[in-house]
Amino acid sequence: MKKILCASLLLGSSLVFSQSNTKWVTVDNSVLKQIRPSSLKGPQALFSAQGASVVQLSQEEIEKMSALIHDKLHRCGGFVTHDSFEEAQEALSHQGESLFAQKAIFDNYELNQGAIVRPLVQAVSEPSIRDMIIKLSTYKTRYYKSKTGVESSTFIKDTWEQLSKHRSDVKVELVQHKDWPQPSIVMTIQGSSKASEIVVLGGHADSIAGFFGGGGRAPGADDNASGIATITEVIKVLMASNFKPERTIQFMGYAAEEVGLLGSKEIASSYKSKAQNVIGVMQLDMTLRKGTKDKDIVMMSDFTNAAQNEFLGRLIDEYVKVPWGYSKCGYGCSDHASWTAKGYPASIPFESTMEDINHNIHTEDDTLANAGGDAKHAAKFAKLAAAFVVELAN
Ligand code: BES
Ligand code: ZN
Repeated sequence: MKKILCASLLLGSSLVFSQSNTKWVTVDNSVLKQIRPSSLKGPQALFSAQGASVVQLSQEEIEKMSALIHDKLHRCGGFVTHDSFEEAQEALSHQGESLFAQKAIFDNYELNQGAIVRPLVQAVSEPSIRDMIIKLSTYKTRYYKSKTGVESSTFIKDTWEQLSKHRSDVKVELVQHKDWPQPSIVMTIQGSSKASEIVVLGGHADSIAGFFGGGGRAPGADDNASGIATITEVIKVLMASNFKPERTIQFMGYAAEEVGLLGSKEIASSYKSKAQNVIGVMQLDMTLRKGTKDKDIVMMSDFTNAAQNEFLGRLIDEYVKVPWGYSKCGYGCSDHASWTAKGYPASIPFESTMEDINHNIHTEDDTLANAGGDAKHAAKFAKLAAAFVVELAN
């Protein structure tokens, strides 16, 4: 994977430019500093933001820089070429947004809701999570373009509606997308006193299997009936206890994650363009199979917010009391990355480290039976997610 990326970047930088000999390059300041004393004669930064700069380089200089990054830093890439200064500047501000979302501290992350959280954690039950996983994985597929993909999203909406029917401050909506038939699902508990501040708990509702995705069976029990069932359990315990948050809480089932995070990208973009104040996002994607011996909950440290991840660690210690640790996806592997890209703080507590991943995902063998046969592992994530939404929303 890394080798392919490396080769394509080098190829990109050695293309012959037809119109002009120079390009605008965005590069990490740390990389720039390393290569400056060399034969590049110190490219001048035209614009800098969030730890990176735009420099203008000739084709020759780009190739030299690529080689230098290899020789001096022993890595690939580390820079991106652009056709205009404006394009480079825009890329940097977007990267800036993402860096900001990963590094900034968005809340005081205090734990002071124990009296509410502890009974909710107690109320989490394995059989109802298992039941929801069975129901979702019984659909032939939840592929974003399929009829059963649409039906399964409607089923999630109906289930969430049923659990909240006694509450006038709760609504459940289908969010339609213009390019494919499967809708996303959004449930909103209106905040009582700080309604403009939003806490999001989400996971993807679609599944996929095989080369062309749509034709065969795609039970997606682990990926990601488990995440949706875990969220459903949080909704169940919150609604049964009649919890009324100060801030607004939104539960989301995203459409079309498996084909490029499409549903969450549209939703996060629309929140950004409306300047919605999302103070924390948790993504649940794969909570079913315990794959790592000494770690029950594994936080992905890339494309996520560091301070919020630490907060999750403290929530686990206080309320779930299981061993946890960190791993990395290495790329924007799920919907949390859509929120991070738009500047919002996001985390993804995951079922295992990346090394111990469930190899049945994206095949017809992604079943409950093949992931242990019960939802005990998922129940730990329901406890953590309940603690997260209550501690952040109050
Ligand atoms: N649940 C997976 C992501 C995942 C897999 C996370 C293994 C950690 C370990 C998710 O549904 C998925 O398949 N994502 C896509 C990425 C997307 C950009 C299409 C993937 O990983 O290929
Ligand atoms: Zn997947």
